[in-house]
Amino acid sequence: MDVIVAGDRTELAKAREAIGPGRLALVPTMGALHPGHRSLIRLAHEHAEHVAVSIFVNPLQFGPAEDFSRYPRTLDADLEVCAEEGVRVVFAPSVEEMYPEGHQVGVSAGAMGATVEGAFRPGHFDGMLTVVLKLFNLVQPDVAIFGQKDAQQLALIRRMARDLNVPVSIVGAPTVREADGLALSSRNRYLSHADRGTALHLSRALRAGAAQTTPARVLDAARAVLDEAARLSPPLLLDYLALVDPATFASVGEEHHGDAILAVAAKVGNTRLIDNIAVQLP
Ligand code: PAJ
Repeated sequence: MDVIVAGDRTELAKAREAIGPGRLALVPTMGALHPGHRSLIRLAHEHAEHVAVSIFVNPLQFGPAEDFSRYPRTLDADLEVCAEEGVRVVFAPSVEEMYPEGHQVGVSAGAMGATVEGAFRPGHFDGMLTVVLKLFNLVQPDVAIFGQKDAQQLALIRRMARDLNVPVSIVGAPTVREADGLALSSRNRYLSHADRGTALHLSRALRAGAAQTTPARVLDAARAVLDEAARLSPPLLLDYLALVDPATFASVGEEHHGDAILAVAAKVGNTRLIDNIAVQLP
């Protein structure tokens, strides 16, 4: 079946009607689709009869010095991916459609949006939650799929659904990686060969950390790999390394037992990369 492409809310409402009854799963994206996004679409099919993908580079979640204007936009290739993966509806609105003049009310991520990644990207999570809530209201899915790759984003969306009684089930999907461990990202296309060699140390550091059994050892083992990468050319410039509670993203103390997330962000050349891994602390 063909993919129905909707560019505004009227076309979207028509598409919703055209696909008929059955549960609808939404996979929100900013496009430049890669195998990580494909895995989300495949998981979406397991949760609903129909799958919709949204493609929207959301200006509200980019800071003034960030890469909104140079973010990759590859709509034709993205539509091919969606067709291959059995997606029924693609919602690809314009900025004017999503934020007509006068837009001002938004979602606040609260304290949880100001820690870890949020401390380096003020306003990012407010803008992200605002667009996700708008996409939910427009598409009205039963379920929505988000990647564990953006673990704080996923935790915040779960929290928004709980705190604001959003009637959408939130499903998390595992991170898809290259064979060498590098987490797939739309931004990886900006890495030179040398950048990529340095970038590999992110997942290497996470694996070294996750093999340890106490918070201090987890952080020390990961930091040792990151320190090594800081001496490479080009160097890895660390923004943060944090061991946090998966639900709240508060740092865990030495007494913590059970699940935690080891999260890292760094710049390599002109590209900022994030990654994380689940850690079990016995
Ligand atoms: P984007 O970066 O395009 O990611 C879309 C979805 O794909 C997110 O849920 C993200 O976590 C997931 N994803 C990205 N790389 C992945 C990988 N290697 N493995 C598994 N999943 C991966 O995240 C956003 O867009 C935006 O913030 C959005 C939620 C669309 C709101 O604008």
